[in-house]
Order: sequence, then structure tokens, then C-alpha cells
Amino acid sequence: MIDPGFTPTQLAARAAYLLRGNDLGSMTTAAPRLYPHMWSWDAAFVAVGLAPLSVERAVTELDTLLSAQWSNGMIPHIVFANGVDGYFPGPARWACRQLAAHAPAGVDTSGITQPPVHAIAVQRILDHARRHGRSTRAVAEEFLDRRWPDLMRWHRWLAHARDRDQNGRIMLYHGWESGMDNSPRWDAAYDNVIAGSVPPYRREDVTVVTDASQRPTNGEYDRYLWLLEEMKSARYDDDVLPAKMSFAVEDVFVSAIFSMACDVLAVIGEEHSRPNSDVRELYYWADHFRRGVVATTDERTGAARDFDLRSGRWISTETLATFAPLLCGGLDRQAERTLLHTFEGPRYCSHPDLRYALPPSTSPVSRDFRSREYWRGPVWPVMTWLFSWAFARRGWAERSLLLRAEGLRQAADGTFAEYYEPFTGEPLGSMQQSWTAAAVLDWLG
Ligand code: SER
Repeated sequence: MIDPGFTPTQLAARAAYLLRGNDLGSMTTAAPRLYPHMWSWDAAFVAVGLAPLSVERAVTELDTLLSAQWSNGMIPHIVFANGVDGYFPGPARWACRQLAAHAPAGVDTSGITQPPVHAIAVQRILDHARRHGRSTRAVAEEFLDRRWPDLMRWHRWLAHARDRDQNGRIMLYHGWESGMDNSPRWDAAYDNVIAGSVPPYRREDVTVVTDASQRPTNGEYDRYLWLLEEMKSARYDDDVLPAKMSFAVEDVFVSAIFSMACDVLAVIGEEHSRPNSDVRELYYWADHFRRGVVATTDERTGAARDFDLRSGRWISTETLATFAPLLCGGLDRQAERTLLHTFEGPRYCSHPDLRYALPPSTSPVSRDFRSREYWRGPVWPVMTWLFSWAFARRGWAERSLLLRAEGLRQAADGTFAEYYEPFTGEPLGSMQQSWTAAAVLDWLG
């Protein structure tokens, strides 16, 4: 049931209108003012939302992103729109073109990466293309032909440069790489980051979201910016970063996403007669990273953990990362059932005070929980979408539909907020966030 507010038809129309409004031509900004450029995982989710509207436009979105891929295979976390200001840190602060041997020449990017959800978008594009006539199908097929090697290079870079120990877990050098910037997952690792002299800067985010309680703190930003300086001193070189970076973690959630994405891409590869060796490699990585995720879990509860490579300590938090194995599978039956109960139980989706039965980014019963503060508590619609998509894929149709129904009830306010206060349902962060509209379009498509 949709809450009083917009009807599904109105909501879909508004979501489409929003994406059109955020469209700069060949890239959709993640949000009109707070994030006026293209973000990597946002772009993938945006493509999922564009696919039912226009396969051609969804293809353009991924083409723009992949045109900014680094020559080592990394997809950078931001592709900067030409001549657009208003976001910090911008191209001058990253200085990738000046410093990084692998950065592309014709476009400004950041020097870090983001979760590899792109195969999901490719799959959605191919699915939608199938329902169209020959010319649209040809656009999708031609895109796959053209970009298959780039998608392989992207996955290969993650599997090698970011799994140096070959233990099936993706390592990150910045909390921003997880997409969950200030999640309590990274507090202990950031405690060990001692910010040296950071060149002066002025935050732009808090001039857009003026309620500072919804954004990371200044202390957090000092560390975020210090890590950039460390990377710059390594010239963003994959072989130098491990020795230079004071923040290095294995992210179990990104690892689960990668496992899933490898499976998705392998199936696409099989269906579209890509080289056998590529498909085999993808299935190998899917399995290897699934094992890497499962190796972090508690045998009884199935709860997953991140790992801090600098302190050599496991990181257990009551956050969405706990549920990584529900995305990629691999747990034994009993542990999986227990983990699903945790997800659906009073510590997460059935917490008695929740406005909607949706998983908050941090459990409300955790000491780390902050109801309004970015990744420390709010409900993120795009995470609801990801779990709902993954649950459908795992054969849990009812669970998937429940998340969709609750996600749509939340979205019926029509703000397309970046995140929501879990108890009151107040929309927070940026309004008109592209990936929130994309989630709604996919659900209603
Ligand atoms: N999410 C970050 C920000 O808030 C950057 O990736 O600016």
C-alpha cells in the first residue's frame, strides 16, 4: 500500500521528470546541488532507472562512466562534469591528471573507486532491450560488444589490485570507496588516521545541507582530506598505495557485491557468447569472493565483519555490512536462516519504532546509531533497492516484494530524498537524489 501522497503513476512520472532534470546531456548528476557530477555507483543505479524509460539513454550513462575508466581498469568514483563548480573536493584537489599515470587524459576524475554494482545495470539494460524492437536491441548488443573488455578490465583490477592477499575480499583505502562514508564500520580504522597538514579547504556540502547533523563532522572531513594527500604522495599508484595509506580495510559488503556482480556478468557473458576464458574467470571470482565473505562470518549468527588491515583487527558493527552474505550467498542453511531473522527482526526491519519496515544503515539498538547522520542510522532507499533486487535473485520473492512495498510507501512523499529518518520518515540529505528516483522507477517499471 502506498502512503497517502502520490499514486504510483504520479510517482513514476515525477521520478522520470527528476532524472530528466538532473540530466546534463550524457551524464546524470547524482543530485542537483549536493552532488553536481557523476558518481560511479550512482551512475549504475541511475542506468537501472533509465533503462525502462530509454535503453539508449541508459547506455549513454554507462558509456560516459566507462569513458572515464583508468588505464589500469579502475572506474573512478567521480567523473567531473565540465565547468561545474560547487563540490569539494573537486578536480584541482584530486590532481589526478597531473599525478596519476593511469588517469584518462580527456576528463577529470577522482582517484578512488566505489562499489562494483555496474553489472547489475548492464543486466537491466539487456532485459529491457529484449522487450523492444530490433534497433533498441542492437543498441544494447553493440554496447555489450564495445564495453565487454572494459567491464572485464574493471573486474580484473578489483580482483587483483584490490585483493592483494588473494583472500577473496576487496580492500579499500578510503571510507568513500565503500560508499558508506561515515558508517561506524570505519570508526576504529579512522581513529588510527592522524591527519597531518591538510591544505586549507572549505566544505561545500554543508552549504547545501545546512543542518550539519545530517552530514559527516569536520573532524571526519579532515581525515577524509588527509587520505587524499597520502594518495597523492603515492601518485595513486596501485603498487605504492599499500605502503603509504594509513587507512586500509577489507570491506565485506563490497566483496559481496563484487561476488554477485561477477555472477551476473558471467551469466551475461554466457548468454552473449563472450570468450569462455572470461566467463570462467568471472565464475571463479564470484566463488572466490563468496568464500572470502563467508570466512568473515560468525558460524552461528552468519553475521559478516570487515577487517582493519592496519590494526589487524576484525570490525564487528551492527550495520548493513552484517548482511553481506545475504547478497552473495554461501552460508550454511542454519546460519543463513538466523541472519535473515536478524534482518527481519527487532534489531533491524521490525524495530517497533520504525516508520517503515526497512533496514536502517545502522541498527537502532546499536550504541553507534544516530537517527539523522548520513550512514550512521538513516534508511537509504538505494540500499532497500539493492537488498530487494538481491533477495529476488536469491529466490526470496516474498521478502523482495515486502521491501519493494515498504520502499514505495516511504517514497510516496515524492521528495526522492537521499536518506530518511527511520522513526519519523523525515526526508534527509539531498532531495531529488537521482538514485532514489531510479529505484522507484525500477520498482514501478
Ligand atoms: N559521498 C561523498 C560525499 O558526500 C563522496 O563520495 O561527498
